[in-house]
Amino acid sequence: MVVGYSSATMEEPVPASESEISIEDPRITAVDLFSGCGGMSLGFNNAGFRIIRAFDNWIPAIENYRANFDHPIEKRDLGDWKSVAADVKRLAPTVILGGPPCQDFSLAGSRSEGAKALLTPAFANIVIDSETPFFVMENVPAALRSQAYATAKENLVDAGYALHELRLNSVDFAVPQKRRRVFVVGSCAGQLHTLENFLDHEKSDQQVSVREALGKIEFDHYYRHPRSYSRRGVFSVDEPSPTLRGTSRPRPATYKAHPDDSSADADIQSLNESQRALLQGFPATYKWTGTKTDLSQMIGNAVPVGLAQAVATALRKSIMDGVRLEPGTVVKPSDAGDAPITSVRTAAQTIRHDVICRTR
Ligand SMILES: C[S@@+](CC[C@H](N)C(=O)[O-])C[C@H]1O[C@@H](n2cnc3c(N)ncnc32)[C@H](O)[C@@H]1O
Repeated sequence: MVVGYSSATMEEPVPASESEISIEDPRITAVDLFSGCGGMSLGFNNAGFRIIRAFDNWIPAIENYRANFDHPIEKRDLGDWKSVAADVKRLAPTVILGGPPCQDFSLAGSRSEGAKALLTPAFANIVIDSETPFFVMENVPAALRSQAYATAKENLVDAGYALHELRLNSVDFAVPQKRRRVFVVGSCAGQLHTLENFLDHEKSDQQVSVREALGKIEFDHYYRHPRSYSRRGVFSVDEPSPTLRGTSRPRPATYKAHPDDSSADADIQSLNESQRALLQGFPATYKWTGTKTDLSQMIGNAVPVGLAQAVATALRKSIMDGVRLEPGTVVKPSDAGDAPITSVRTAAQTIRHDVICRTR
């Protein structure tokens, strides 16, 4: 099956080639909504998923994404969820991924729910209307307490999805950054009984420091602008970094030394965008296009690649196990989830064909 469009404007992607969307390719297919520069896509790709389409509405992120992936990305307003759902339904992915904007929920924002918060129920509506069997939605932990998520959850549960709300910290998955995020995994095949179990296997006992992630560097401390001056701004490279955000300001003259600063030196620099991208788990070969301000934003927005990869690996294994293991079964990393990928395809297709989502 070849899925594509007839013209190549920014609105309509170039036609997909035979080799791009081939029924011979055994990987589980996924569509990435709110794809940004591609952190979530890259993590799922690395875990053996085949991303077939991405959507975002911010041109700098779209161009950056396009520079790194072969599959099409479309510029679409995902608030217009009905038309997107119809297109996703035609693509028939097994999984929808997505990180709807978090500004309305984030601790950094005002936390009053506005138009951006409505993109969370829009994500849910696209999943439901397109009758996609599985989804993974990433956001800040505060999203779980929002009215927008309550609406999305009610609609998803009504449509027959079982939900797993996973509160994760990227530093537990060998990512050199402390970043707390929630991943809501949904399944219209019922609970994925081995998901948390497989996710535990992806955890690492060892934390990775900034120095280990960046390799040869000629500084021992760096500045990360704090949200409030009650918090420190100077960090050692021998610990994981704090959460990277959408700006990378230099140390202002008004910054007053904090007792927890790792160094009292007044001449501490902030990290550059290449270094911040490495701490988000993008490989050194990842291409970056756009202005420094745009790059700061898209890098700070991204899901750490290693965290997305861990969730993706656990999901891939549990999709496969979902069709053949009893609830509550404890599995080892070497168990069924690591079976040949053709079996994974069979499992995903079995679910896709056997499960009837209670959608409209
Ligand atoms: C948190 S970022 C996603 C990061 C991405 N998952 C990654 O790992 O790189 C949210 C994205 O939503 C996009 N966005 C915001 N409003 C949108 C809308 N109405 N329609 C489509 N995309 C939108 C932004 O441009 C941004 O790239």
